Amino acid sequence: MSLMRTKSVEQSIADTEEPEFRLRKSLSALDLTVFGVGVVIGAGIFTLTGRAAHEVAGPAIVVSFVVAAIACALAAMCYAEFASTVPVSGSAYTFSYASLGELFAWIIGWDLILEMFLGASVVAQGWSAYLGVLMEQLGAPIPAVIGYGGTVDLMAVLLVVVLGALMTLGIRESMRVNLVLVAVKLFIVLFVIVAGILFIDPANYSPFVPETAPREAASGLTQPLLQFLSGAEPMAFGLGGIFAGAALVFFAYIGFDVVATTAEETKNPQRDLPIGIIASLTICTVLYCAVALVVTGMVSYRDLDPAAALANAFAFHGQTWMATVISAGAVAGLTTVVLTLLIGATRIIFAMSRDGLLPERLAKVHPTRRTPWLISVIVTAIVAVVAGFTPVGVLEEMVNIGTLSAFILVSVGVIVLRRNRPELPRGFTVPWNPWLPGLSALICIYLTLNLTVETWLRFLIWLALGFIVYFAYSRRNSRVGRGSGLYRNPALPKVVGREDGS
Ligand code: ALA
Repeated sequence: MSLMRTKSVEQSIADTEEPEFRLRKSLSALDLTVFGVGVVIGAGIFTLTGRAAHEVAGPAIVVSFVVAAIACALAAMCYAEFASTVPVSGSAYTFSYASLGELFAWIIGWDLILEMFLGASVVAQGWSAYLGVLMEQLGAPIPAVIGYGGTVDLMAVLLVVVLGALMTLGIRESMRVNLVLVAVKLFIVLFVIVAGILFIDPANYSPFVPETAPREAASGLTQPLLQFLSGAEPMAFGLGGIFAGAALVFFAYIGFDVVATTAEETKNPQRDLPIGIIASLTICTVLYCAVALVVTGMVSYRDLDPAAALANAFAFHGQTWMATVISAGAVAGLTTVVLTLLIGATRIIFAMSRDGLLPERLAKVHPTRRTPWLISVIVTAIVAVVAGFTPVGVLEEMVNIGTLSAFILVSVGVIVLRRNRPELPRGFTVPWNPWLPGLSALICIYLTLNLTVETWLRFLIWLALGFIVYFAYSRRNSRVGRGSGLYRNPALPKVVGREDGS
């Protein structure tokens, strides 16, 4: 039963009081909302909108965005409840440690490492791609060998190193840079909406839901798991196309969960975390639906560019300078996504090291900067290497599966913690428990079944690696397991060291 040992909520909170592991508490609800919007709006809206409309949903892609938003909203509520109950760095990892037990917590931490490391690397490559397009539009192209898709993507490496240095310098400094870049990104998205309205031709909206048609069949390892299991023929458009589109554009919403990783650096987490998570998701949903409506109104879904729909919709109408402005906005926009994912990755590893599941000495924070500097340096180095040297377009779906599995465990965790610890003060509660959290888990499971067989295999290999590390190192070194290393804060009324009963 020791695999199911849990770390009590009180203990999680008490650990954050230890001087050598204490982070600076400086973030407000507004900071968190900006942080959320900064990480959510990224490669997804700039590239996937066009692809999903063109290939599977037509103008009804706007409905797909709403469907994906509903799935995310359910998960967001579960995150908000947890983050307001267990305001500790580490997000879903810490939540599952308190509710589902150590082994699940380990799995989820391991998944989040996957989500954020690969997310940061993939988006850094995307950033380099947009930089290439922009520099070409400006007449100063980047040499092919050191740019996107080159032998070494030096631009992506450079970006990661600069952002890594910024993150190590301090959370406040990072947030300030983030604020400026998020403002630029929002301006560009609003620009697309407002300027785009002028070019809308209502004829492009019909048919709004194109008739169902056979989809160019993906086969073998590249087909969705659901299709592989059921043997059904894949179809595009129609009602099914709306759901397929939702599974695709889900990527565009990924990131609001990263807000929960900064819980410990928030001044008033019980109040501010739910606001930050739900506000950033709401803002992104409204903007995404508006962009989707405008872009499919500007160009028929049949002619939309599946790679860079936003910029090219303007180029289609002869507005090349507007296309340049949008490319520049994408470069600024993707910067904040990479920065935030880097911060998220360090905070997850920080929480896992502090618990002894990874080497504890990694988690020491810098005496004056109060950032986990050693982890920051390691994360930066790994992400830079992955971004610089892996071929492009291979690992995106891995980000989705890492995120969705975290969503599933968090949703289940809400139900479990409500039953086991009903008395805990909760700043925010999900309505209609257990139905809503249950529905959230089911929808996420459905979405994972839409990912490819190949992604599932890679994911299983990653999990197997995780089990090896857990049983070879983490299980024996876990602070909860050792029992003795627990810090007891005399200021807290009740500190429960172990709840596993083992
Ligand atoms: N939601 C993020 C993006 O679209 C991951 O780039």
